[in-house]
Amino acid sequence: MTDHYAVIGNPIGHSKSPFIHGRFAEDTGQALDYVALTAPSGGFAATVDAFRAAGGRGLNITAPFKLDAHAYAGAVSDRARLAGAVNALRFEAGGAEGENFDGAGLVRDITVNAGQPIRGRRVLLLGAGGAARGALAPLLAENPARLVLVNRTPAKARALVAAFADHGPIDAGTLDQIAAGGFDLVINATSAGLTGAPPPAPASVFHDCVLAYDMTYGLGLTPFLARAREGGAVNIADGVGMLVEQAAETFAWWRGIRPATAAVMAALRAPLV
Ligand code: ATR
Repeated sequence: MTDHYAVIGNPIGHSKSPFIHGRFAEDTGQALDYVALTAPSGGFAATVDAFRAAGGRGLNITAPFKLDAHAYAGAVSDRARLAGAVNALRFEAGGAEGENFDGAGLVRDITVNAGQPIRGRRVLLLGAGGAARGALAPLLAENPARLVLVNRTPAKARALVAAFADHGPIDAGTLDQIAAGGFDLVINATSAGLTGAPPPAPASVFHDCVLAYDMTYGLGLTPFLARAREGGAVNIADGVGMLVEQAAETFAWWRGIRPATAAVMAALRAPLV
């Protein structure tokens, strides 16, 4: 008997999730299928209800439905509540449970795959939208020396800092304040790269940087990563590892078995040149 899973978003055509979960299922010998599903604007709940009625066991959720998924879930984990968004749903007899593995995927990619500890490090996070919000609690749980949040609209960074102040040493900063560098890890959680806009920070920010991380992926050397290299960042990484690691966390939550990630990352990775 085959269990049914899917990723839901709009648009969804370019999602890598069916490929990733298909490989995980094959590698672990799990009997499941995983497809891409689209829902019309305003039609998230009805589409999910129909998927469940047809025997669906779980979903990944991508833009623009992560907030709808949070509202849909009967119960959400602490990290999904803190992220304010759900990127995975699991359907059991008791109802729909919501989780968010984006931040866990980011932390695992930095600490395990890139081999850079976050503990004791000075971390700069650029952006204050959904991607930044989802990363904050998992990053702070690693005990960085400090975490500075900088956003084009400073009031949004200040609001997030106030919301996460109990979780660790977090401050809002301005571009002027960070221009001299002083950060071990610099993480781009803005969507600037998706629109071809210039990078959200000057090259001088990367002066002491051991790892510059761009949460976007599949775009090769993004303007952010190119600038990081120009500014002297020792290592650069895009978000492919984050994507595959969050998928592995989700798979383990659904199936009780954690798939290996290295070969799947290698298959998806475009050279950063
Ligand atoms: P996501 O879910 O990807 O985080 P979002 O919630 O729309 O998307 O947030 C986008 C983030 O990228 C915001 O922090 C946004 O800055 P503002 O809050 O000032 O809008 C940031 N962003 C988008 N385009 C940008 C650009 N060209 N330069 C700098 N920051 C940008």
